[in-house]
Amino acid sequence: MEVIVEKNYEEMSKIAAELIAELIKNKPNAVIGLATGSTPLGTYNELIRMHKEEGLDFSKVITFNLDEYVGLHPCHSRSYHYFMKENLFKHINIKPENTHVPDGIAPDILKFCEQYENDIKNAGSIDIQLLGIGSNGHIAFNEPGSSLGSTTRVKTLDSKTIEDNARFFDNRDEVPKYAITMGIGTIMGAKKLILLASGKNKASAIATTVEGPITAMVPATIVQLHPKAIIIIDKLAATKLTREFPAVLGTLQGKGRARDN
Ligand code: F6R
Repeated sequence: MEVIVEKNYEEMSKIAAELIAELIKNKPNAVIGLATGSTPLGTYNELIRMHKEEGLDFSKVITFNLDEYVGLHPCHSRSYHYFMKENLFKHINIKPENTHVPDGIAPDILKFCEQYENDIKNAGSIDIQLLGIGSNGHIAFNEPGSSLGSTTRVKTLDSKTIEDNARFFDNRDEVPKYAITMGIGTIMGAKKLILLASGKNKASAIATTVEGPITAMVPATIVQLHPKAIIIIDKLAATKLTREFPAVLGTLQGKGRARDN
């Protein structure tokens, strides 16, 4: 596991976008796993800039999103379909048929989840999976207690997640209670993981993810077992890392980027 501490959100976003762009340049038909939420927005903005100013070509890229709320129509302004369209897809030259976001209104959700797993396999598996992290340590909507080998399925959202995500809705009661989510096993099947976190609110979850024992109660800790996991965080999200590796101290003292393997 590689930990990179950047001085702020913008730098964190840039390095994540650079890693994704490098993949696309080397493999134009790359399969990329995408996340929603506040954290990846800077990365998406940088990818859009690279497309517009540097001609980064998404015409053969295939994407699979991590999750979607059950019951929200793709046109609903809080659905992850809508989020992806507004914040990335409509600004780049990706083909709509190459983008995949779980269908929160699928008539047969179990069948849909099986199909989503098959679609990922048939695409040749995910080259880079982008991840955020919940303040409770979830990845995608794999809440504390999720099976570490799980595949795409419906999960009940944790009360902490509902509280955290209420900011995107008019009030807490409007936050859906269930979501379709890639499983932890699905995520671990990706060839490379990039986990992003920014801000003090994520510091405890990051400390446990990087330094804690692997436990289903903090699903993100599983990334310790992935052979190619990169954790890119800003200084605030790094504040509870207790291991005093000099690189992180260097960054905290304003000396630039810190890396540790
Ligand atoms: C969203 C997702 C979630 C978020 C996490 C952090 O697709 O998979 O796990 O990454 O809840 O959300 P933000 O970035 O809004 O803090």
